[in-house]
Parts: sequence; C-alpha cells; structure tokens
Amino acid sequence: MRKRITNYIRSGHAGLYIVSPEEARVESELKTVAKSLKRPLWAWSATTGLVDTQDGSSKGGNDPLEAMTAIGALPDDTLVLLRDFHLFLQDGNPVLIRTIKDELVRAKSKGIVLVVLGCRQVLPPELEREFILLDFMLPNKEQLGTVLDNICDSAKQAKPTGDARDRILDAATGMTCLEAENAYALSVIESKKVDPDVVAREKAATVKKNGILEVVTVRETLDDIGGLDVLKGWLLKRRDAFSQRAREYGLPNPKGLLIVGIPGTGKSLTAKATASVFGRPLLKLDAGKLYGSLVGQSESNLRSVIQTAEAIAPCVLWLDEIEKGLAGSKSSGSTDGGTSSRVFGSFISWMQEKTAPVFVVATANDVTQLPPELLRKGRWDDLMFVDLPNDQEREAIWKIQIQRHGRDWSHYDTLALAKASAGFTGAEIEQAMIDAMYAAFAGGREPGMPDLLWAVGETVPLSKLMAEQIAGLKKWAVGRCRMATSSVEKTKGRKIAA
Ligand SMILES: Nc1ncnc2c1ncn2[C@@H]1O[C@H](COP(=O)(O)OP(=O)(O)O)[C@@H](O)[C@H]1O
Ligand SMILES: [Mg+2]
Repeated sequence: MRKRITNYIRSGHAGLYIVSPEEARVESELKTVAKSLKRPLWAWSATTGLVDTQDGSSKGGNDPLEAMTAIGALPDDTLVLLRDFHLFLQDGNPVLIRTIKDELVRAKSKGIVLVVLGCRQVLPPELEREFILLDFMLPNKEQLGTVLDNICDSAKQAKPTGDARDRILDAATGMTCLEAENAYALSVIESKKVDPDVVAREKAATVKKNGILEVVTVRETLDDIGGLDVLKGWLLKRRDAFSQRAREYGLPNPKGLLIVGIPGTGKSLTAKATASVFGRPLLKLDAGKLYGSLVGQSESNLRSVIQTAEAIAPCVLWLDEIEKGLAGSKSSGSTDGGTSSRVFGSFISWMQEKTAPVFVVATANDVTQLPPELLRKGRWDDLMFVDLPNDQEREAIWKIQIQRHGRDWSHYDTLALAKASAGFTGAEIEQAMIDAMYAAFAGGREPGMPDLLWAVGETVPLSKLMAEQIAGLKKWAVGRCRMATSSVEKTKGRKIAA
C-alpha cells in the first residue's frame, strides 16, 4: 500500500482518494510516505482547517472552498490530506466541484497532491477521472499482531505465541486496527487474557454493524442433510480446496456454487453446512441491503463487503435467495438508474477474478428472476438443482428430523412415513414432526406413529399447490444444472462415482 501511494505521488498524480474507515492508520502511513519523500504534509479538516503536521502551524480555511484557496498558496511539492472531504462532495456542489478541478490543474504543475480520505467512496461523475481511487486494505495478520502485542504490553501480560496466537489473529481478521484493539482490550477485561472466542464474538458484532454482512455461527454439518448425495460428494471433494497442498497440486481456487430449487428442500441448510465442510467461517451477505440511496454508496458497500470477506478468507460467503437482492438488475434501467445491475456486474467480475480464497455459495428459489449472465457457464464451478426428495431421501430426512427433535428414529416406521409423505419437502417433513409433537404433547403422550401419520395427512404440500411452477423449474434445470441427487435407477444398480 505504502509503495502504491508513493508511486502515485512520485509519478505526479495530483488527486488521490483513499477509502478507509481507519483514519489513524492511513494518516500514519501518509506521514511515513511524506517523510520518505522528504515532502511536507498538511492535513485539513472542517474543524481545524489547514494544519502543518510537522509544526502544527495553521492556515485556517475551515470552509472547503476557502481550503482550496489556502492550498493554492502552499509551497511546491506539499502533500495535503483532506479528512471527511467526501461529505462535501456528496451533494454535488457545482462551485466546489469546479474549484477542485481548477485546483487540481494548478496542483499538478506545482507538485502538490490532494489526498481525500473518507470511509466511503463518494465521487460525483465530474470528478471520477480526476482522482485515483485507492482501497486501503484492512490490516493483515502481522499488523493485527502488532496491535495485540501492544495491548499485552500495556496489560502487563505475556504475548501469546504459536497456536494460541494464530487463533487470536484468525479471529481478528476482517477488523480494523482500532476494532481489533478494542476487542483485545475487552477480552482482557472480561477474561483476564486475550481470548479468541471473545475476539470472534466482537468481530461478528462489528461486521454486522453495516447490516449487510453477518458472521453466522454454524452448527450444521453434512450429517444434518438427508439425501442430496451428489451435492454432498461435490462438497467433500473440495474440502481441501483452499489448502496449500491444493495450490501446489495446481488446482485453481474454487469460485462458488449456485444451488437452485423449490423452497424447503434444504438449500440454505446446505449452504450453512458448506462452511463446516471447509472448516472456515461463514459470512452471510444480504444482497438486498447492498443498495444504498446515496450516489456511489452501493458500490462502496460492495467494496467493503469484498474487503472484509477477503480479509477473513479463507471463508464461505453465502448469498441466500439471491434473486431477491438482484431482482432489480433485470429491469434496473428503469427502476434504479442501473445501480443494481452495475453493482451486480462488479460482484460477478470479482467472483471471476478473485484470487483470495473466498468460496461463494448462493441459493435461489426462482430462476426466472435471475439475470441470464448470472447463469452463464463458467460463472460458477457448478449449478446444482435440488429436486423434491425421493423415497429414500424422505426416509433419511425423517430419521434426521426425529433425532433432531429428541426421539429415537428406530422406534418409528420411517419407511411408512416416507411413503405417506410423498411430495413433501424436507421443511414440510420437519413441520409435520413439530405438529405431531404438539398434538401428542396436548394429549399428554409421546409422539407415536398415529400422531406423525395424522400430521402428514393434515399437510398440503407445496408440490401440490405449485405443481406447475415446480414442473417448470425442473424442466428449466434439466441440461443446465447438475442434479443434487443421483437418479434412483443408478443408486439401485451400481455405485456412483459422482
Ligand atoms: N434434505 C434435508 N435434510 C434434512 N432436513 C431438511 C432437508 N431439507 C430441508 N430440511 C429441513 O427444512 C428446514 C428448511 O430448509 P431450508 O434449507 O431453509 O430450505 P430452502 O433454503 O431450500 O428453502 C431445514 O432447516 C431443515 O430442518
Ligand atoms: Mg432458504
């Protein structure tokens, strides 16, 4: 990062825009750069005006327009840090925009560099070409380690080493230095040491703050999924995909998996279990919340999501019901000025180009809502279609659900239950189980076969209500998707090398 900034400055760029929530870290980085280039660094904010960072002398100019005039009077080769300047750009004040443009021309000839620092990217189109946009990366493990050592020093504690240190730093990735420092300090207060679980909990809370990303605690494993043998096998094969061994073998990082199917067939469940298979954290992205109302906010949100995911990587990034977040992109030209299709385009290109080990798993109920470019070959490692469970799968699901609700499945005739619940999804089987338990509980008995069969009889499955849509979806999937379940004939006859 330091090198990039230095190179831009040395090559005579007059406008840089650094996006980062970490003001202090960026400022100290800029100070180092200024020192190494032997250039003066002035810093501006609306409260202090223009101040020389070396001797503290001030030139006033609290108003952004006045500041521009004051900058014009600075000596050649000065670097100027503009704090929160993006806030003045977001309402597109024409006089200010013009002044900045003029000032940039003047600055260039004098070797002055304007460095806008903001936590978001807000650049009106008029200025987009005038500034080089730089994402200031979240701190790496080494930097988070330095923060950890400082906290340990001030708390008079031994610095964690080896495995314990790795676990703490792993828990801290994705946070800014300040957030990590706060998490470490809180942990020392709470448990007298820096505890990776406390750090992980604090990270989950900070990631959630913007409402777009969430760190999900995963309990689900592949054993919680009945059926879907092909899908499970697919995931298991990629279990070590992020390992050094896989890189050395020459395997590319997996891109991601799109799971399509009717509601209640275990798509979200599988997405969660994916994180268990990889043994890595699960980040859930709410694509619908990506779209902000301010200019450039959606793009900025996406960048921050990607940055966090890449910092936490290897990890699984989960987009549930992707059609909801992207619904606008099909017709966005008319609905939101093309924002969602642009943001969506950026997401797709990130998915294609990413080198960081982030495995994207997306689910969709309704493919008709999805933009076709999302379904094009090569976008994903695979498209999986989850059908209604077959007889064997329903029996497996019954066993899992009976067990999950604290009963021993061997006390039930699971074959009969599977037969009776033909056309049910996994979610409907779970609901029938719960209904049966309520009925039995009210009757003061353990749920027996009659309760379960009664609950099954009471249920009108979605497959009956939506027969046409389901048939349509299935027809769409044939030839486009890999089936998540191997076909019945095959499972009977021979072992499948899925
Ligand atoms: N194949 C399955 N095996 C076990 N349970 C299932 C299965 N499919 C669905 N379920 C149950 O139904 C619930 C809802 O399923 P979910 O994964 O949310 O469906 P979807 O995302 O496809 O709409 C799950 O939490 C689980 O309890
Ligand atoms: Mg779901």
